[in-house]
Amino acid sequence: MDKLVIRGGKSLSGEIRASGAKNSALPIIASALLSSENVIIRNLPHLQDITTMINLLGTMGVEPVVNEDLSVELDSNLLKSVVAPYELVKTMRASILVLGPLLAKNGYAEVSLPGGCAIGSRPVDLHIRGLEAMGAEVVVEDGYIKAKTDGRLKGGNVFFDTVTVTGTENIMMAATLADGVTSIENAAREPEVVDLAECLIAMGAKIEGHGTDLIRVTGVEKLHGCDYSVVPDRIETGTYLVAAAATGGKVKVKDTRPDILDAVLVKLEEAGAKIETGDDWISLDMEGRTLKAVSVKTAPYPAFPTDMQAQFVALNAVAEGTSTVIETIFENRFMHVQEMMRMGADISVEGNTAIVRGLTELHPAPVMATDLRASASLVIAGLVAKGGETVIDRIYHIDRGYECIEEKLQLLGADISRLPE
Ligand code: UD1
Repeated sequence: MDKLVIRGGKSLSGEIRASGAKNSALPIIASALLSSENVIIRNLPHLQDITTMINLLGTMGVEPVVNEDLSVELDSNLLKSVVAPYELVKTMRASILVLGPLLAKNGYAEVSLPGGCAIGSRPVDLHIRGLEAMGAEVVVEDGYIKAKTDGRLKGGNVFFDTVTVTGTENIMMAATLADGVTSIENAAREPEVVDLAECLIAMGAKIEGHGTDLIRVTGVEKLHGCDYSVVPDRIETGTYLVAAAATGGKVKVKDTRPDILDAVLVKLEEAGAKIETGDDWISLDMEGRTLKAVSVKTAPYPAFPTDMQAQFVALNAVAEGTSTVIETIFENRFMHVQEMMRMGADISVEGNTAIVRGLTELHPAPVMATDLRASASLVIAGLVAKGGETVIDRIYHIDRGYECIEEKLQLLGADISRLPE
C-alpha cells in the first residue's frame, strides 16, 4: 500500500485550485440513470470513488465515455442490468445512490447492502422507508435491497427523522419520475443536494425548495439530457485552509465557493486567521499570529460539517488553549485522535466529545489513515510536526477524496512525497 512521507515544519504558502466536489459528483453521476438522453458531467474530480461510481454504471451496461478534459458522457438507454453488485458497493457506500434512479426509471432495482463502515453503523433504513412512502415494495434478502414498483412510483410525503444527505438525494432523484408530487420534510440542505437538484432541473425535473428543509418534487414522465458542471469541493477547500492555518501560512484557494463555507471560515477567523474572499476564491493569512483553539460542534448544513471535524482536531492540537470538539452526526468518528496522540497530541475523548489541549508542537511518527477525513487530519498534523518524517500508511483512504493531494501541497511548498508500495 502506498504511503505518504511528510517532513513537516514549513509554513504553507501559495495558490491552488479547488477540485469538483466528490459528494456532488457521486449523486450527479447516478442521476444520469434517470435520463432518456445523453448526460455530460464536467468538473469531475479525479478520484477513486468517482471511478467506482462510473464503473458501477458501466457494469449496468451504460458504457461511460471519459473525455480528455475528464468530463464523462453517460447514456442510460444502454442499461442492461439493474443490479449494483456487492463487489462494488462494499468499496463505496455512496453506491446506494443508484437505488432511487434505477427504481424510478426501470421499476426494479437490486442494490447490495453497503458493508460496515469505519465511522459508525451508517444504516440505509431511511432511504428504504422513503421509497416505500412512494409506493415501492422493498425487501432485504441475501444481502441485497430488492425494490420494485407497479408502474411509476407515486408522489408521497417523505419525512426524515434524521437529516440524511444521500437519503434526501435518493428520494429527490426517485421523485423526479414519480406520478404526482413528493414532499421531502426535514430534507438535507447541503450544497451538494442543491447541486444535484440543479442538475436534475437542467434535465427537465420540477423541483422547488432545494436548499431548505422542505423539498417539493413534481414528477415528470421523462428527463432529457444535460451538460452540467459540478460545484467546487467545499471540504477539500476547507482542508487546505486549515492546513495553511495550522502551519502559520498564507494560502489562496481559487475556483471555489466561499458562500458555502461560512461555518468553517468563521471558525478559522476565530482561530486568528485573516480571511479574504472573492466570488470564487478564498485566501487565508495567519500574519504571524498565534493560533487560538476553537471549539466546534458538528451538525447538518449550514452548521459545522462533520467532514471538517478531524481537520479541526489537528488544528486545535497545535493551538493555544483547550477546546472541545463535539461530533453529533456519526458515532466512532474520532479514530484520528489515537493516531495524533502517537505524534504527542494531548487529546482525550469522552463519548462524542474530544477535549483537545493545545501544544506548541507535534512530533513526527508513523501513523495510519483510517478513513477519508481522518487521513486528511493526519496530513495536517504531519505538516506541522518538525524534526523528522511522518509516514502515513493506508493512504488509499485519502485518494478516495483528495485529488492530487501531494502535488497540491507541494505547490504550497510542503515537503511531501508518495512512497509507492
Ligand atoms: C454524506 C456524505 C458524507 C458526510 C455525511 C454527513 C456523501 C457521498 N457522503 O454521507 O461525506 O459525512 O453526508 O454530512 O454525500 N442515517 C440513518 N439511516 C439512514 C441514513 C442515515 O440512521 O438511512 C444516519 C447516519 O447513521 C448518520 C446520519 O443519519 O448518523 C447522517 O448520515 P447521512 O447524512 O445519511 O450520511 P451520508 O449521506 O451517508
